Amino acid sequence: MHEGHEVGKPFARVWMKAATGRFSSDSDTAPSGVPVRSEYAEAIGLLMKRAYEGTIDDEGETLDQCIQEIRDTIAGKYGPFLKDASFIACFEDRIVSASLVTMWKGKPLLAYSMTDPDCQRCGLAGSLIRMSLNALADAGISELFLVVTVGNHAQNLYSRLGFKILGSAPPQQPPPS
Ligand SMILES: CC(C)(COP(=O)(O)OP(=O)(O)OC[C@H]1O[C@@H](n2cnc3c(N)ncnc32)[C@H](O)[C@@H]1OP(=O)(O)O)[C@@H](O)C(=O)NCCC(=O)NCCS
Repeated sequence: MHEGHEVGKPFARVWMKAATGRFSSDSDTAPSGVPVRSEYAEAIGLLMKRAYEGTIDDEGETLDQCIQEIRDTIAGKYGPFLKDASFIACFEDRIVSASLVTMWKGKPLLAYSMTDPDCQRCGLAGSLIRMSLNALADAGISELFLVVTVGNHAQNLYSRLGFKILGSAPPQQPPPS
């Protein structure tokens, strides 16, 4: 997942960056994003397990590892967690999508975007990322970075949201300036 390809995996990863700003919702069906709280770590970990399973970024993490990864992300593994710019969407008592933002080496990072397979391609991830972009703009932050594995379908979504490729993303490095 986020750190997964730092060692021994051949997939190329690239930095992308978008300008933040006031984006309106796609439609009347846009989810109401709920700010992330640490109590949600277990449910977001379950979402992570389901979302990444079988994808290009799946490294066979267990549910416990996914829950721990979310706990660590919220606790600062990728820099301070920006809870006011991080959102979840719920459906029938389940967390079905999340956009988690941190401040990685001084730059805002979309650490995780994920949607439950049952709910994909309905606009959830795009809506939550737009909420993150809006919240960052409200906080006076003008850009958002992310890292994506080349070949991940998410790149189409990111391009549509205005993210542009900056170049390769070696592990543990800050985004290019
Ligand atoms: C990437 C991901 C977050 C998208 O979530 P989503 O809620 O389905 O996203 P949206 O509905 O807002 O946008 C869907 C768009 O993403 C792209 N996309 C997503 N899945 C795709 C697929 N299987 N094939 C092609 N394009 C795909 C398309 O551009 C699609 O738009 P379209 O349906 O109009 O063609 C979700 O597929 C996911 O959780 N993947 C596993 C985790 C992951 O890889 N996260 C990104 C890490 S950088």
